[in-house]
Amino acid sequence: MTQPDFRTPELDDLAQRIIPQEHFEFPTETARDRFFADTRMLDVKQLVHNAFRTNPRSMVDHMISNLELTGTEDLLDLGCGNGFILEHLRPHLADGTITGLDNAPAVLDAARRRLHGTATPFTWIESSADDLTMLDDDSFDRVMANYMIHYVPDLERCFAGVRRVMRPGGIFQLTTDRPDSMVEMYDVHFAALRALDAPADLFKATPKGRLSLETGAAQLKRHFDRVKKVTWQDQLRFTDPLPFMEFYATGHNHCCASSVPDPRLDESFYENLRALVEKEVKRRIDANGYFAVTKFTGSFLCR
Ligand SMILES: C[S@@+](CC[C@H](N)C(=O)[O-])C[C@H]1O[C@@H](n2cnc3c(N)ncnc32)[C@H](O)[C@@H]1O
Repeated sequence: MTQPDFRTPELDDLAQRIIPQEHFEFPTETARDRFFADTRMLDVKQLVHNAFRTNPRSMVDHMISNLELTGTEDLLDLGCGNGFILEHLRPHLADGTITGLDNAPAVLDAARRRLHGTATPFTWIESSADDLTMLDDDSFDRVMANYMIHYVPDLERCFAGVRRVMRPGGIFQLTTDRPDSMVEMYDVHFAALRALDAPADLFKATPKGRLSLETGAAQLKRHFDRVKKVTWQDQLRFTDPLPFMEFYATGHNHCCASSVPDPRLDESFYENLRALVEKEVKRRIDANGYFAVTKFTGSFLCR
């Protein structure tokens, strides 16, 4: 199937102008204790990504086909979250096994409940992805790390661990974003921040910039013989501002502006921010029929 191409010179130009070089960084403990203390953020993002996409082939389909599964593999999912991807992947491993690892007990529990009673044997491990010492050498045919690597404190130790636990001939799939993914969301967000005269340090790119699709290959090549990048695009289209606002405010913590408590910003700041963003999104829907949010994402396949 040919993949849709949403890239345009206008979007490239917009990204050049507005996506900052500096990106947010959050300690893994902040992720564990705030973002993933429950499944709300993940639920909202998964629901919206799926309900408003225009690429008929979903991101999960893309990830599953990259893994070249025959049905009997032993698979390890680092940062498995609430098990959304594993639920879709599981039928492809009817005679294999799945190990889900995450350092946030709340989402790991949600994954365990989600997959409970299915025929594929599951093992759940609460650990940081840079500590795989509980796993034997050469024990997995496939390892994946989707949208989580930017939180892992020691990347070198994580990749060395993956190399050690992966059998020869295995595939390690690392999925992440380009820093300009969802540039339209950052555009309306930064414009609203400017209108509110917000602190300069809020103008940063996604935390995924730490190991993005642009920069990740070099780091991975230190641990794997072959590293191939498979890109993926989609475009979310909203004809009502409300689901986008939930995606922006709850799913993305206002593009990270509300990720951690900030004594300079009170609730009225966020109310004003949301009001400005919503007004602009509504204006664009009225002008164009929908508000588009273009996703530039993809996976490194490492062998
Ligand atoms: C954005 S979610 C992605 C979840 C899932 N992979 C997906 O794509 O739906 C990031 C996940 O990484 C987990 N995480 C963060 N830091 C981690 C670490 N150091 N080790 C393992 N998991 C971590 C979080 O708890 C969360 O479940």
